[in-house]
Amino acid sequence: LKLRQQTGRLAGKKVVVSAGGTVEPIDPVRFITNRSSGKMGYALAQAAAEQGADVTLVSSSELPAPVGVAMVPVQSARDLLAAMTERFEDTDVAIMAAAVSDYRVATPADQKMKKNADHAGLTIDLVENPDILATLGQQKTTQYLVGFAAETQDLLTYAQNKLEKKNADMLVANDVSKAQVGFGHDTNEVTLLQRDAAPEKLPLQSKLALARDIMSRIATQVEGK
Ligand code: CTP
Ligand code: CA
Repeated sequence: LKLRQQTGRLAGKKVVVSAGGTVEPIDPVRFITNRSSGKMGYALAQAAAEQGADVTLVSSSELPAPVGVAMVPVQSARDLLAAMTERFEDTDVAIMAAAVSDYRVATPADQKMKKNADHAGLTIDLVENPDILATLGQQKTTQYLVGFAAETQDLLTYAQNKLEKKNADMLVANDVSKAQVGFGHDTNEVTLLQRDAAPEKLPLQSKLALARDIMSRIATQVEGK
Protein backbone atom coordinates (compact mmCIF):
# COMPACT_ATOMS: atom_id res chain seq x y z
CA LEU A 1 0.00 0.00 0.00
CA LYS A 2 1.36 3.36 -0.98
CA LEU A 3 -0.18 6.43 0.56
CA ARG A 4 0.11 9.50 -1.65
CA GLN A 5 0.07 12.81 0.09
CA GLN A 6 -1.97 15.41 -1.76
CA THR A 7 -0.54 18.38 0.08
CA GLY A 8 2.91 19.82 0.62
CA ARG A 9 5.16 21.96 -1.55
CA LEU A 10 6.34 18.92 -3.53
CA ALA A 11 2.94 17.20 -3.96
CA GLY A 12 2.81 15.53 -7.38
CA LYS A 13 6.59 15.71 -7.83
CA LYS A 14 8.87 12.71 -8.25
CA VAL A 15 12.11 12.83 -6.31
CA VAL A 16 14.94 10.25 -6.59
CA VAL A 17 17.70 10.32 -3.97
CA SER A 18 20.88 8.22 -3.93
CA ALA A 19 22.42 7.61 -0.51
CA GLY A 20 25.34 5.90 1.19
CA GLY A 21 28.53 4.41 -0.10
CA THR A 22 28.89 2.04 -3.02
CA VAL A 23 30.24 -1.49 -2.72
CA GLU A 24 32.81 -2.67 -5.28
CA PRO A 25 33.67 -6.39 -5.23
CA ILE A 26 37.26 -7.67 -5.09
CA ASP A 27 36.25 -11.35 -4.97
CA PRO A 28 33.12 -13.20 -3.69
CA VAL A 29 33.91 -12.33 -0.05
CA ARG A 30 35.77 -8.99 -0.21
CA PHE A 31 34.89 -5.49 -1.34
CA ILE A 32 35.89 -1.82 -1.40
CA THR A 33 33.59 0.73 0.22
CA ASN A 34 33.79 3.96 2.26
CA ARG A 35 32.61 5.47 5.54
CA SER A 36 29.39 7.03 4.23
CA SER A 37 26.50 6.11 6.56
CA GLY A 38 23.71 7.13 4.16
CA LYS A 39 22.12 9.31 6.85
CA MET A 40 22.15 12.57 4.82
CA GLY A 41 20.47 10.95 1.81
CA TYR A 42 17.89 9.22 4.00
CA ALA A 43 17.12 12.54 5.72
CA LEU A 44 16.66 14.21 2.31
CA ALA A 45 14.30 11.41 1.22
CA GLN A 46 12.30 11.85 4.42
CA ALA A 47 12.18 15.65 3.99
CA ALA A 48 10.95 15.25 0.39
CA ALA A 49 8.25 12.77 1.49
CA GLU A 50 7.14 15.21 4.21
CA GLN A 51 6.60 17.78 1.45
CA GLY A 52 4.30 15.37 -0.41
CA ALA A 53 6.73 14.13 -3.07
CA ASP A 54 6.72 10.61 -4.52
CA VAL A 55 10.18 9.57 -3.30
CA THR A 56 12.53 6.77 -4.34
CA LEU A 57 15.72 6.09 -2.40
CA VAL A 58 18.50 4.26 -4.24
CA SER A 59 21.00 2.95 -1.71
CA SER A 60 23.39 0.23 -0.56
CA SER A 61 22.70 1.16 3.07
CA GLU A 62 20.78 -1.20 5.34
CA LEU A 63 19.07 1.58 7.29
CA PRO A 64 15.26 1.19 7.31
CA ALA A 65 13.45 3.23 4.63
CA PRO A 66 11.71 6.40 5.85
CA VAL A 67 7.90 6.13 5.94
CA GLY A 68 6.33 6.32 2.47
CA VAL A 69 9.67 6.10 0.62
CA ALA A 70 10.30 3.37 -1.99
CA MET A 71 13.69 1.64 -1.69
CA VAL A 72 15.85 0.42 -4.58
CA PRO A 73 18.83 -1.59 -3.27
CA VAL A 74 22.11 -1.25 -5.18
CA GLN A 75 25.73 -2.23 -4.56
CA SER A 76 28.24 -0.96 -7.11
CA ALA A 77 28.58 2.43 -8.82
CA ARG A 78 27.49 0.80 -12.06
CA ASP A 79 24.32 -0.57 -10.37
CA LEU A 80 23.65 2.93 -9.08
CA LEU A 81 24.19 4.46 -12.53
CA ALA A 82 21.67 2.02 -14.04
CA ALA A 83 19.09 2.67 -11.28
CA MET A 84 19.43 6.46 -11.59
CA THR A 85 19.43 6.71 -15.39
CA GLU A 86 16.44 4.34 -15.61
CA ARG A 87 14.37 6.72 -13.47
CA PHE A 88 15.83 10.07 -14.48
CA GLU A 89 13.62 10.92 -17.46
CA ASP A 90 10.45 10.54 -15.38
CA THR A 91 11.80 12.47 -12.39
CA ASP A 92 11.40 16.09 -11.30
CA VAL A 93 14.28 16.20 -8.81
CA ALA A 94 17.36 13.94 -8.66
CA ILE A 95 19.76 14.16 -5.72
CA MET A 96 23.17 12.45 -5.75
CA ALA A 97 23.92 12.21 -2.03
CA ALA A 98 25.69 8.86 -2.48
CA ALA A 99 29.43 8.62 -1.84
CA VAL A 100 30.24 6.89 -5.12
CA SER A 101 33.52 5.00 -5.31
CA ASP A 102 35.67 6.80 -7.88
CA TYR A 103 37.30 3.47 -8.82
CA ARG A 104 36.35 -0.20 -8.99
CA VAL A 105 38.41 -3.38 -9.22
CA ALA A 106 39.25 -3.92 -12.88
CA THR A 107 38.59 -7.68 -12.82
CA PRO A 108 36.93 -9.02 -9.66
CA ALA A 109 37.95 -12.65 -9.02
CA ASP A 110 35.28 -15.35 -9.52
CA GLN A 111 36.70 -17.43 -6.67
CA LYS A 112 38.00 -16.34 -3.29
CA MET A 113 41.55 -15.12 -3.80
CA LYS A 114 44.28 -17.23 -2.20
CA LYS A 115 47.39 -15.95 -0.49
CA ASN A 116 50.32 -16.11 -2.85
CA ALA A 117 53.37 -17.74 -1.24
CA ASP A 118 55.71 -16.09 -3.77
CA HIS A 119 54.74 -12.48 -2.97
CA ALA A 120 54.76 -10.58 0.30
CA GLY A 121 52.44 -7.94 -1.14
CA LEU A 122 49.41 -7.71 -3.42
CA THR A 123 48.54 -5.16 -6.08
CA ILE A 124 44.95 -4.78 -7.27
CA ASP A 125 44.25 -2.89 -10.50
CA LEU A 126 41.47 -0.31 -10.29
CA VAL A 127 39.63 1.41 -13.12
CA GLU A 128 37.60 4.61 -12.95
CA ASN A 129 33.84 4.38 -12.39
CA PRO A 130 31.36 6.34 -14.48
CA ASP A 131 30.46 9.74 -13.03
CA ILE A 132 26.74 9.40 -12.36
CA LEU A 133 26.05 13.05 -11.53
CA ALA A 134 27.85 14.20 -14.68
CA THR A 135 25.97 11.61 -16.76
CA LEU A 136 22.63 12.86 -15.42
CA GLY A 137 23.84 16.43 -16.03
CA GLN A 138 24.34 15.57 -19.70
CA GLN A 139 20.91 13.91 -19.97
CA LYS A 140 19.12 16.72 -18.13
CA THR A 141 16.13 18.45 -19.73
CA THR A 142 13.68 19.84 -17.14
CA GLN A 143 14.93 17.95 -14.07
CA TYR A 144 16.37 19.79 -11.07
CA LEU A 145 19.71 18.11 -10.37
CA VAL A 146 21.47 18.25 -7.00
CA GLY A 147 24.96 17.03 -6.18
CA PHE A 148 27.21 16.99 -3.13
CA ALA A 149 30.88 17.84 -2.76
CA ALA A 150 32.95 16.40 0.06
CA GLU A 151 36.18 18.37 0.43
CA THR A 152 38.94 18.76 2.98
CA GLN A 153 40.36 21.98 1.47
CA ASP A 154 39.32 24.87 -0.84
CA LEU A 155 35.68 23.87 -0.32
CA LEU A 156 33.90 26.54 -2.34
CA THR A 157 36.32 26.55 -5.27
CA TYR A 158 36.13 22.78 -5.76
CA ALA A 159 32.36 22.72 -5.18
CA GLN A 160 31.74 25.54 -7.68
CA ASN A 161 33.81 23.62 -10.22
CA LYS A 162 31.74 20.48 -9.67
CA LEU A 163 28.47 22.46 -10.02
CA GLU A 164 29.55 23.74 -13.43
CA LYS A 165 31.44 20.73 -14.76
CA LYS A 166 28.67 18.27 -13.93
CA ASN A 167 25.86 20.61 -15.04
CA ALA A 168 24.05 20.43 -11.67
CA ASP A 169 21.56 23.04 -10.47
CA MET A 170 22.58 22.88 -6.81
CA LEU A 171 25.73 21.66 -5.08
CA VAL A 172 25.75 20.89 -1.36
CA ALA A 173 29.30 21.63 -0.24
CA ASN A 174 30.55 19.70 2.77
CA ASP A 175 33.84 20.42 4.58
CA VAL A 176 34.57 16.91 5.84
CA SER A 177 37.76 17.98 7.64
CA LYS A 178 35.67 19.51 10.46
CA ALA A 179 34.52 17.58 13.54
CA GLN A 180 30.76 16.86 13.71
CA VAL A 181 30.42 17.28 9.97
CA GLY A 182 29.64 14.79 7.23
CA PHE A 183 30.59 11.12 7.13
CA GLY A 184 28.93 9.07 9.86
CA HIS A 185 27.81 11.97 12.07
CA ASP A 186 24.22 12.90 12.95
CA THR A 187 24.92 16.58 12.37
CA ASN A 188 26.18 18.44 9.34
CA GLU A 189 27.14 21.94 8.23
CA VAL A 190 27.06 22.78 4.53
CA THR A 191 27.13 25.64 2.07
CA LEU A 192 24.61 25.58 -0.78
CA LEU A 193 25.75 26.67 -4.22
CA GLN A 194 23.13 27.42 -6.83
CA ARG A 195 23.54 28.80 -10.31
CA ASP A 196 23.38 32.59 -10.45
CA ALA A 197 23.10 32.96 -6.66
CA ALA A 198 25.52 33.76 -3.86
CA PRO A 199 26.68 30.77 -1.77
CA GLU A 200 24.42 30.23 1.25
CA LYS A 201 25.98 28.84 4.42
CA LEU A 202 23.50 26.86 6.52
CA PRO A 203 24.05 26.45 10.28
CA LEU A 204 25.43 23.29 11.96
CA GLN A 205 22.33 21.23 12.73
CA SER A 206 20.95 17.70 12.69
CA LYS A 207 20.97 16.03 9.28
CA LEU A 208 17.15 15.95 9.32
CA ALA A 209 16.83 19.69 10.09
CA LEU A 210 19.42 20.40 7.41
CA ALA A 211 17.63 18.14 4.92
CA ARG A 212 14.40 20.08 5.52
CA ASP A 213 16.26 23.36 4.86
CA ILE A 214 17.78 22.01 1.64
CA MET A 215 14.45 20.54 0.50
CA SER A 216 12.69 23.86 1.05
CA ARG A 217 15.30 25.57 -1.22
CA ILE A 218 14.70 22.86 -3.83
CA ALA A 219 10.90 23.27 -3.50
CA THR A 220 11.28 27.00 -4.18
CA GLN A 221 12.99 26.11 -7.48
CA VAL A 222 10.56 23.42 -8.66
CA GLU A 223 7.10 24.24 -7.24
CA GLY A 224 4.61 25.51 -9.77
CA LYS A 225 6.66 24.09 -12.66
N1 CTP B 1 29.61 11.38 -8.09
C1 CTP B 1 28.99 10.56 -9.01
N2 CTP B 1 29.71 9.56 -9.63
C2 CTP B 1 31.01 9.37 -9.33
C3 CTP B 1 31.66 10.20 -8.38
C4 CTP B 1 30.92 11.20 -7.77
O1 CTP B 1 27.81 10.74 -9.28
N3 CTP B 1 31.67 8.39 -9.94
C5 CTP B 1 28.81 12.46 -7.48
C6 CTP B 1 28.63 12.36 -5.98
O2 CTP B 1 27.47 11.60 -5.66
C7 CTP B 1 28.48 13.82 -5.59
C8 CTP B 1 29.35 14.56 -6.60
O3 CTP B 1 29.49 13.67 -7.72
O4 CTP B 1 27.15 14.26 -5.74
C9 CTP B 1 30.71 14.96 -6.12
O5 CTP B 1 31.39 13.85 -5.57
P1 CTP B 1 32.86 14.04 -5.04
O6 CTP B 1 33.42 12.72 -4.64
O7 CTP B 1 32.89 15.18 -4.06
O8 CTP B 1 33.60 14.60 -6.35
P2 CTP B 1 34.34 13.89 -7.56
O9 CTP B 1 33.79 14.48 -8.81
O10 CTP B 1 34.32 12.41 -7.45
O11 CTP B 1 35.83 14.45 -7.42
P3 CTP B 1 36.93 14.15 -6.27
O12 CTP B 1 36.49 12.93 -5.48
O13 CTP B 1 38.19 13.94 -7.02
O14 CTP B 1 36.94 15.40 -5.42
CA1 CA C 1 34.93 11.27 -5.53
